[in-house]
Amino acid sequence: MTDDKLILVTGATGKTARGAIGLLLERGHRVRAMVHRDDERSRALAEAGAEVIQADFLDLDGVAAAAQGVDSAYFCYPIRPGLIEATATFAQAATEAGVGSVVNMSQISARREAGSNAARQHWLAERLLDRTDLLTTHLRPTFFAEWLTSWWELRGGEGRLRLPFGEGRHAPIAAADQSRVIAALLADPKPHAGATYTLHGPLEMDHHQIAAAMAATLGIPVRYEPISVEEFTAAMTRRGLPSTSSSTSPTSPSTTRTASSQARTTSPRGSADSARCRSSNSSSTTSRHSTPAAPTSSRHRRNQRRRSRHATPPCRLRSAAAPIPCFGTKKPPITASTVGHTPGAR
Ligand SMILES: NC(=O)c1ccc[n+]([C@@H]2O[C@H](COP(=O)([O-])OP(=O)(O)OC[C@H]3O[C@@H](n4cnc5c(N)ncnc54)[C@H](OP(=O)(O)O)[C@@H]3O)[C@@H](O)[C@H]2O)c1
Repeated sequence: MTDDKLILVTGATGKTARGAIGLLLERGHRVRAMVHRDDERSRALAEAGAEVIQADFLDLDGVAAAAQGVDSAYFCYPIRPGLIEATATFAQAATEAGVGSVVNMSQISARREAGSNAARQHWLAERLLDRTDLLTTHLRPTFFAEWLTSWWELRGGEGRLRLPFGEGRHAPIAAADQSRVIAALLADPKPHAGATYTLHGPLEMDHHQIAAAMAATLGIPVRYEPISVEEFTAAMTRRGLPSTSSSTSPTSPSTTRTASSQARTTSPRGSADSARCRSSNSSSTTSRHSTPAAPTSSRHRRNQRRRSRHATPPCRLRSAAAPIPCFGTKKPPITASTVGHTPGAR
């Protein structure tokens, strides 16, 4: 199958984007991959069949060039400062270019009241996109499963997970599973316009239970050692990674928790989907979080009507001294089939 539609994927060499590009190309879509750097990762995307364009998220002209002729786009800014400026830049460039739909990478803890700057900035970025005419779908994953492999240590035949997650619980989701959702949304975005999807794995666990599951799979002892945020920051610095101040850490432990009031909604694709798909939806908070009255076009008004069905629920704040909260959810996960992809079909 070939498709005339042009799909832009930003953050293209990153964890979620790379997999989405592979799936889209396999299915015959035209993909433009926006990369940060020209390196072996970007060359691999070109070899796979993507049109590669190099641009910086903060360079309006560069992003505008990437957005030319695009029908749908994945916006995925890394865990770094600058999200709001990058979102504004992207929104302007995409609007100028007449991009139809946007899939926006956010975070499960994105909340107006979030204690984490990263979570609040994702919430602001969502609202910023909602104020445009772009038909937007927000994705709010929990912590990626990749944390477990990237912060894993093997010493004396024993595995150790040293992470600053206290006794918090969540249901990790692999980037590859998110890629399936992203690819399906980009290929057919309109039914999902205005929706906010929480992405997580099938089983909520604390990190002791996660370590036990890893031990059972690997056949060696694996221990979880909760560490302080300061220790983790030092470990990141040793690896040459950007500092994990509260402004940059994903779904930071000093955050909010997923609102227990998240309601089941009927997904645009009907009842089978709604059994697996969670939209952040609460009619009681609609007026509080929907876009204030402003512009104008019929598409904007349509967006607003859609949004009023998907407004963000309130979230209780926790005190800084409280144990790390549950940042996952006990509800069933969104799955790839929710958005029209049959697992195993790729
Ligand atoms: N990790 C988690 O547990 C988690 C949980 C929930 C939500 N999220 C959200 O997921 C997003 C990250 O997704 P991901 O893990 O798929 O991405 P990622 O692997 O961190 O990749 C980010 C991509 O952005 C590129 N990039 C960095 N700076 C850029 C710039 N200035 N201009 C253009 N491109 C730039 C990077 O290229 P280079 O490598 O060449 O710089 C890379 O390709 C974040 O918004 C985060 O909040 C993450």
